[in-house]
Amino acid sequence: MSPILEIADLKRLAKRRVPKLFFDYADSGAYTESTYRANESDFYRIKLRQRVLVDMSGRSLETTMIGEKVKMPVALAPTGLTGMQHADGEMLAARAAEEFGVPFTLSTMSICSIEDVASVTTKPFWFQLYVMRDRDFVLNLIERAKAAKCSALVLTADLQILGQRHKDIRNGLSAPPKLTPKHLFQMATRPRWCWNMLKTDKRTFRNIHGHAKSVTDLASLNAWTTEQFDPQLSWKDVAWIKERWGGKLIIKGILDVEDAKMAAETGADAIVVSNHGGRQLDGAHSSIAMLPRIVDAVGDRIEVHLDGGIRSGQDVLKAVALGAKGTFIGRPFLYGLGAMGKPGVTRALEIIAKEMDVTMALCGKRRIAEIDESIIAENPFKG
Ligand SMILES: Cc1cc2nc3c(=O)[nH]c(=O)nc-3n(C[C@H](O)[C@H](O)[C@H](O)COP(=O)(O)O)c2cc1C
Repeated sequence: MSPILEIADLKRLAKRRVPKLFFDYADSGAYTESTYRANESDFYRIKLRQRVLVDMSGRSLETTMIGEKVKMPVALAPTGLTGMQHADGEMLAARAAEEFGVPFTLSTMSICSIEDVASVTTKPFWFQLYVMRDRDFVLNLIERAKAAKCSALVLTADLQILGQRHKDIRNGLSAPPKLTPKHLFQMATRPRWCWNMLKTDKRTFRNIHGHAKSVTDLASLNAWTTEQFDPQLSWKDVAWIKERWGGKLIIKGILDVEDAKMAAETGADAIVVSNHGGRQLDGAHSSIAMLPRIVDAVGDRIEVHLDGGIRSGQDVLKAVALGAKGTFIGRPFLYGLGAMGKPGVTRALEIIAKEMDVTMALCGKRRIAEIDESIIAENPFKG
């Protein structure tokens, strides 16, 4: 096997090891995927400033996100169906994140439940909340996250209705997968994936199954999920959730200056500048393009984080230079997980950390606190 040197190597390996319908689920965006592509390509348009003959010794990537110490300003983003990239995926990724020293965020739409992840971790993780129409279910989720000692609630604001990903429809995506001849073929050609999947009992949405009223079997679960995203969700609900939760709150999915101002008004601890990895509004700006304007508008009032398109430590550094206090990665860790399970997630984090460290040094900086616009030579997205 050739050495794994960059996130693209993990992606190639994941493509070989994960059944097509689940690999495609990760590697896809809404409609034409233009925003998905822009999230990645816009990072290339930002140029770094090379500095020489400065003391580059004693470097550290350590910093804080919402007051929590982190080994580098990178959290694992909430991703649905992670336990279908690799058996027990959320539990493995959470442990890799904990050992590395970065936050892990569990999605509402995960395969492993809040309790499953709590059972294999020793430090608090973050929980991402989708607000469903069934508010009793939402309250129950919040209580379960509290009981599991989650240290932040990440409220996703950009998925009141589902964007369309053509690949998922063409592939007939579901969890667990329907055993059609096409899917059986896709799985049969991925024996390692099948073997691990046979050894686990975690193959459906375990935050929901057994917890939501009226969800008794797979058919009712699928129907429940599609009808439960609440199109009426509004800023008033954010206040309600904040009160019920009572802990640190991060609002994820902000891409507009006006929305950022509203989010800052709520008294939340942070926002994530995000377009859901290009999976919702195709044709929207990339996250990195919007970051400077949002930081200008609210950066003095609320912590600003960013996700979308980060594929290297250089991308993290560029986001930090443009004002992000932290970042999240989705696909990079999913590719690592699909490629190699827990060691693959660790590898993804190591790759990003090393790229960040070397790039920081070559920009003449030694600490995250020193990273600002002075490391940027050219930025077409200035605020
Ligand atoms: C396969 C997949 C599933 C996702 N599921 C969720 C989810 O359940 N909840 C959520 O808030 N965001 C979800 N997202 C969005 C991520 O949290 C994050 O915003 C995005 O992945 C960042 O872009 P990146 O993948 O380019 O790093 C998902 C993203 C992917 C790729």
